[in-house]
Amino acid sequence: MVDFIIDVLGDLVFEGTKAGAKKIHKSAKLRKNIAKAAEIIENGGLAAFPTETVYGLGADAFNSRAVERIYAAKGRPSDNPLILHVASIEQFLELVELPPEYALALAKAYWPGPLTLIAKKKYHLPEWAGGHPQKSTATVGVRIPNHPIALALIKAVGRPIAAPSANKSGRPSPTSAAHVAEDFSAEGEIDIVLDGAISDVGLESTVVDVTGDFPIILRPGAITAEMIEQTTGLKPKEAAATDAPRSPGIKYKHYAPIAQMIILKGEPDNIAAYILKECEARAEQKVGAYITARTEDFLPVKPPNMKLIILSDNCETIAQNLFGHLRQFDKSDVSVIFAEAVSYTGIGTAIMDRMLKAAEGNVIYV
Ligand code: TXA
Ligand code: MG
Repeated sequence: MVDFIIDVLGDLVFEGTKAGAKKIHKSAKLRKNIAKAAEIIENGGLAAFPTETVYGLGADAFNSRAVERIYAAKGRPSDNPLILHVASIEQFLELVELPPEYALALAKAYWPGPLTLIAKKKYHLPEWAGGHPQKSTATVGVRIPNHPIALALIKAVGRPIAAPSANKSGRPSPTSAAHVAEDFSAEGEIDIVLDGAISDVGLESTVVDVTGDFPIILRPGAITAEMIEQTTGLKPKEAAATDAPRSPGIKYKHYAPIAQMIILKGEPDNIAAYILKECEARAEQKVGAYITARTEDFLPVKPPNMKLIILSDNCETIAQNLFGHLRQFDKSDVSVIFAEAVSYTGIGTAIMDRMLKAAEGNVIYV
């Protein structure tokens, strides 16, 4: 078990809506808990903390031993670099060579928020910083998260926090403290989890390469291609799946539940009929159905071996719950999950990206 999970939520008073909250009234207890996590990080430990996208597993970005511990705890391949989390644009500019104007426009428009910028690293930084201590990187990924606990923690540490998503490599990213505890239950793997309730966005940040003359989206997220174009006046290139991976994380199987996953594309009645047929054919197994209420309406009966989770008709809600739902399917021991495709509008592009990765590209047209 993780030593302890600090439930700081009770002490958190948000001003305005939770999503837009920038200020918190820090009670003595909350301040103490954040200070404790900061001290752990300063001493080379690992602290998991909430962000608006997913939970991060944080360490002092310039402590090579601590960063190595992140890779070991996650079982993360050493060629997959980490995002450095900072609390201000000034702190970002201490890490990177002055990026092009369009990159600064993105930073100003969307930070704090679910956007990571990949920029050229300042020459005086350690060669390995931003990646595994045994590797060298010319670029660094940076983001300012929009979560009061994350921002307070970064400020308390006073230096960048390196933090990948706080899941074991290959598992769905964590959107709650309980998910983090699920993946890191072994003694001493990580040192603390700050509990900040369920993540608002639910999908990892949009990763944008800003090292060239125009933005390249390496990983889709809540900040969409349309938003980037609107802010910069530049049409972002979207890294095709066949491109040599520029963002190393993209080449690995990701976000995967333990069960096999299959995406179904087609009309709701056909999807319902297909899943019913599969439930009959797999009578001895549990079958996951991840479908909209519209499709559920075409199920005359719910087979006893079906584990049903309804996909919301709102894309933001689907995104927020996706990883948690994949974990729920695993807990109910399904051998296969049939998931209905969503439309590629807004955050739908990012949802489909994660779903396709979980399904290893397995799509059936019905
Ligand atoms: O929302 C998020 O981005 C979350 C929260 C915790 O901030 N973090 C996250 O980190 O998703 P991680 O490590 O799970 O994913 C980071 C992605 C990977 O695909 C990685 O390859 C890419 O960003 N990345 C990081 N640094 C990079 C770099 N210098 N060049 C190219 N890609 C980079
Ligand atoms: Mg990750």
